[in-house]
Amino acid sequence: MLVAGPRVVQLAPSLLSADAGQLAEAARTVEAAGADLLHIDVMDGHFVPNITFGPHVVAALRRATRLPLDVHLMVQEPAPLVDAFIDAGADVVTVHWEAVTHLERLVAHIKARDCLAGIALNPATPVTLLVDVWDECDWLLIMSVNPGFGGQPFWPRALHKVQRAHDWRGEQARPRIAVDGGVDETTAPQLAAAGADVLVAGSYVFDGDPAVRLRNLRQAVTP
Ligand code: DX5
Ligand code: ZN
Repeated sequence: MLVAGPRVVQLAPSLLSADAGQLAEAARTVEAAGADLLHIDVMDGHFVPNITFGPHVVAALRRATRLPLDVHLMVQEPAPLVDAFIDAGADVVTVHWEAVTHLERLVAHIKARDCLAGIALNPATPVTLLVDVWDECDWLLIMSVNPGFGGQPFWPRALHKVQRAHDWRGEQARPRIAVDGGVDETTAPQLAAAGADVLVAGSYVFDGDPAVRLRNLRQAVTP
């Protein structure tokens, strides 16, 4: 299930670090290894200086795995594109606060399509800016690197940001708090302790044996 108990940490391998010629195989591998979601990084070459996957890749992955698809749009003004990703099979669509002019409207639209609506925050964007959309936000993606590339060092202040978001949420189950960037067996337990519900990990999972790496992460976040 996408929305588990509030303190069950879910693992979302990011295909950005998988072999681009074997994406379906990578999806099946992490599914068999116990991943909870599949994180798909969509980059447009404008919001971030890199280009990755489009809706047709998401549709192919939808056919390859039963894992929920967590689509992270690093796209400037993504509103005209979200329907294509939802039609392709996205279960979570996350847009960046910094990239959207009419955020309330876009979040409402994503939710109206029976998709979870996520809002991502770059390291320099404070959680408090979400005060007027907080109740509508299903999924908060706290970036612990500046978006655009895998394999960057973890930004330690993300821990405080996660803690603040977790405190703000209080007893509520929403938004789910996801963290993206530099997640490994050292940072994962720190993030879990700060209140993260979902950990996205790219290079840590795919730069080794994904089954071993996922097991290490699972152990690291299991009390
Ligand atoms: C970065 C992407 C991340 C990326 C994380 O912009 O949003 O999802 O895959 O990679 P690692 O885990 O290597 O930091
Ligand atoms: Zn991502």
